[in-house]
Amino acid sequence: MAAKLKIVLGTSNSHKVHEINEIAREYNVEFILPDCGGFNPDENGSTFEENAEIKAKEASRVSKTGEYFMADDSGLCVDYLNGGPGIHSARYDTTPEKRIEKLLDALKDDKKRTAHFVCALCLCDKEGKVLHKEKGTVEGKISYSKKGLNGFGYDPVFLVEDKNKTMAELTEEEKNTLSHRGRALKCMLEWVKVNFKI
Ligand code: IMP
Repeated sequence: MAAKLKIVLGTSNSHKVHEINEIAREYNVEFILPDCGGFNPDENGSTFEENAEIKAKEASRVSKTGEYFMADDSGLCVDYLNGGPGIHSARYDTTPEKRIEKLLDALKDDKKRTAHFVCALCLCDKEGKVLHKEKGTVEGKISYSKKGLNGFGYDPVFLVEDKNKTMAELTEEEKNTLSHRGRALKCMLEWVKVNFKI
């Protein structure tokens, strides 16, 4: 089997690298952290797509090694909050627990609870030229209380559509088959497979 195609992932979060490599298991691709001191791009885009592109281009600029660079930007969009916290999901409050509390509080008194997760992906080359983009979503509802211990972020309060479970009650494998990130990444990897002939 040919050597794995290495793609630098524009993140400093090794959990994200692990999750993405799990999803990419059946492909001849390995995602690695950028080769630089720290990765702190200015995520000042106004959409998930813009932020994914900013991060992918920044990875190509700062990483000392690598031919291809990918980044994801993701978040939770709640209908009652007009799509919020959206691109601000990671900064909605200071800790994951406080973010969940703030969300449940915003929806108290049985507000409209429909929501979806979004993941935008951008792949570029070492000159920072965009090669391909993908987007994945998963629909659901915000629960009334936390349930489940798996996953991260808003998973304990996100009831997955057509499953009687929160995202945090799914196994890692179950989450990866239906999550916004899993869906976007599968499409990206199919594109890579065809275009890079791996
Ligand atoms: P990013 O790392 O800038 O893309 O920030 C994404 C933020 O959105 C995370 O910090 C989480 O709060 C939230 N988020 C994104 N994907 C997920 C997920 O799969 N489960 C739970 N929360 C998520």
